[in-house]
Amino acid sequence: MSNAPLLEVKDLRKYYEVKSFLKAPKAVKALDGVSFSLARGKTLAVVGESGCGKSTLAKTLMLIEEPTSGEVFLEGKAMSALPAADWRKSVQMIFQDPYSSLNPRKKALDIIAEPLVIAGGLSKDEIYDRARKMMQKVGLRPEFEQRYPHMFSGGQRQRLGIARALMLQPKVLICDEPVSALDVSIQAQVLNLLMDLQDEFQLSYLFISHDLSIVRHIADDVLVMYLGQIMEKGPRDRVFANPQHPYTRALLASHPDLTAMKGPRATLEGELPSPLNPPLGCPFQGRCPYVMLVCRDIRPPLYEVDGRRSACHLHAPDLKAGEASGSKPEIARRDGILTASL
Ligand SMILES: Nc1ncnc2c1ncn2[C@@H]1O[C@H](COP(=O)(O)OP(=O)(O)O)[C@@H](O)[C@H]1O
Ligand SMILES: [Mg+2]
Repeated sequence: MSNAPLLEVKDLRKYYEVKSFLKAPKAVKALDGVSFSLARGKTLAVVGESGCGKSTLAKTLMLIEEPTSGEVFLEGKAMSALPAADWRKSVQMIFQDPYSSLNPRKKALDIIAEPLVIAGGLSKDEIYDRARKMMQKVGLRPEFEQRYPHMFSGGQRQRLGIARALMLQPKVLICDEPVSALDVSIQAQVLNLLMDLQDEFQLSYLFISHDLSIVRHIADDVLVMYLGQIMEKGPRDRVFANPQHPYTRALLASHPDLTAMKGPRATLEGELPSPLNPPLGCPFQGRCPYVMLVCRDIRPPLYEVDGRRSACHLHAPDLKAGEASGSKPEIARRDGILTASL
């Protein structure tokens, strides 16, 4: 199986214009230059605090929101050039709260069958036959066919949402916090189901989650976002074992069980700045223990460092030793790689 990217996102931006009385409209930069790729059969986890743009990314990929600029490619075909119905055959989504996305007046089997009914081209018998098989695949018993969504438990409802999303045989499944509304014991069951289905159908997952223990469990690659921008992206093991961006380090600092990261652990302090008024330069400057003058003015590029990318000026090859210290906590740095803070 080729590892060429199935989904490719290039410099994606989504600015929401926000109008307020007697004031000039302002832009919320919900996505501000996001690029990544996702290979077939792999899971890319998107992490970051509330408001960093995760759901906007999902909505843009689902054609719910139109990007301000940038492009998304599926097997080399541009999202903007494909008819929406074709795109949706390949890219489907499951939600945090499946209840709000399932029609309360429809029965389970009809809910699962509906995407194929809308797509047309198959006989009713064929469609319902496939829907029954899909119900079984996601672990819903045949006697649930005629039940309405409210008669299911949270975990069963998520199974229903998964079955519906898979009926068009998509290649990409976008999962926006798919288990965060479920009890921990049920979370594991649904995650195991998702992993089994991924193997069986060679699905690619864009898995949005704020739960880093789940991310470490299921992700192949990790994308760390902050204020609409990518702070760090790379293979899961690299990112967890030795996070490079100060923001990732702070996120992981409160999870000693998940990382072998050395040194004192500066935890995340201060508030997320308003996306209406993002600072010039690095978005993380206001909360970063290592902030330097350059961070105030210049947005750091995504440096290639230790097998992943990290958008921090500390990785700059021409950074002088003194610039990174001062009265602030020191960070050990060799060849641009952050090893530990003293
Ligand atoms: N329709 C909208 N109009 C204006 N601002 C929005 C809209 N949707 C989202 N935003 C803003 O965009 C930013 C990113 O939101 P979102 O993608 O929902 O973040 P997340 O899912 O990571 O919590 C937030 O500041 C949010 O307030
Ligand atoms: Mg969200």
